[in-house]
Amino acid sequence: FDAVDVIRAKRDGRTLTTKQIDWVIDAYTRGAVADEQMSALAMAIFLRGMDMEEIRAWTRAMIASGDRLDFSGLSRPTADKHSTGGVGDKITLPLAPLVSVFGVAVPQLSGRGLGHTGGTLDKLETIPGWKAALSREQLMERLEDPGAVVCAAGPGLAPADKKLYALRDITGTVDCIPLIASSIMSKKIAEGTSALVLDVKVGAGAFMKRSEDARRLAEVMVDLGRSAGVRTSALLTDMSAPLGRTVGNALEVREAVEVLAGGGPSDVVELTVALAQEMLEAAGQGGHDVHAALKDGRAMDAWRRMIRAQGGDPEAKLPVAREKHVVRAERSGVIREMDALCVGIASWRLGAGRSRKEDPVQAGAGIVIHKQVGDAIETGEPLLTLYTDEPERFPRALEILEGSVTYDGLGPSGRGTVILDR
Ligand code: URA
Repeated sequence: FDAVDVIRAKRDGRTLTTKQIDWVIDAYTRGAVADEQMSALAMAIFLRGMDMEEIRAWTRAMIASGDRLDFSGLSRPTADKHSTGGVGDKITLPLAPLVSVFGVAVPQLSGRGLGHTGGTLDKLETIPGWKAALSREQLMERLEDPGAVVCAAGPGLAPADKKLYALRDITGTVDCIPLIASSIMSKKIAEGTSALVLDVKVGAGAFMKRSEDARRLAEVMVDLGRSAGVRTSALLTDMSAPLGRTVGNALEVREAVEVLAGGGPSDVVELTVALAQEMLEAAGQGGHDVHAALKDGRAMDAWRRMIRAQGGDPEAKLPVAREKHVVRAERSGVIREMDALCVGIASWRLGAGRSRKEDPVQAGAGIVIHKQVGDAIETGEPLLTLYTDEPERFPRALEILEGSVTYDGLGPSGRGTVILDR
């Protein structure tokens, strides 16, 4: 095979053969196909697309580029959840312990935040003592007890994707359904879970702004999971406004703990319960009263054991940012829209996110949302509180928030459901 032939074939709109795909992914992983050649191929795929057979072959080849974990020796079934990324999406934190309460092990191999979306590991690392790195043996042990594990994915799973994702990030080829679907699913299938629930976000704060695109992405990912023998389902959920009332690492942990204590914002509770039911169903353990485990302390107990198993102190005080700035309503009305992307970028600019992989994040930085979509607000009432350790960050965060919240004078209506489809 020759890289130029493969690039030309896709450039001219032809279907790639499984042999071509296997070769190009393997050669790229080994360094025999150069970054500039893979960039050209990624752009050709971006422009010409891939059919389902090609996407399946591409995903299999990326899985074959690295290790595959095997959980079949565990005493209980496994279920995992993947969100395509959003603003204020702290669902993994209450969800993993909640699902473990019902005897299903949750191997949640997670990442760090990049850009305006937060990362689960960054959030948990604000808990004093908590460590993301686990060896394979430690992961297996902790899946038996306490049964829920959130840890770093490690370099061994789908290394082809690691290289390709970094390349796509700098060549304008990220937002392409075949490439996103194969990227996510190669990692999830290599991880070895037997059941997987996808939370596919749609709206301003998501990769997919339009529901047709989100639906297509969900369908492709579910197909990839099922063809690899993973029981896979997907929910389409609203990311036009931030999820819950906090955005930022330690602030989101605080909110997750509220949910585990039986309280918390209704949208976060709704989505946590719905995803837990889906995961249990997919793992063959459906029919439980999931809500009850949030109310009666079982989920909180599981959370404490999960945090302690990785060195964290669940009773320790979470870090708080040194400086705050309150944004007040300029007039009275009901909030109709709060642009999730603007809130995500503002939180990032306050120091909650990073722009390069190596950058540190601030534990306490972020935004508390006092009034959400559907809430009534009076002139002068607090709308948002911005937090950071570095007050010089306030102006640029405020700049992006300008015009991001719209109100009108009609009666309150509430946010409504965040689950748009299944
Ligand atoms: N997340 C991934 O892991 N890959 C993508 O391509 C997009 C989001």
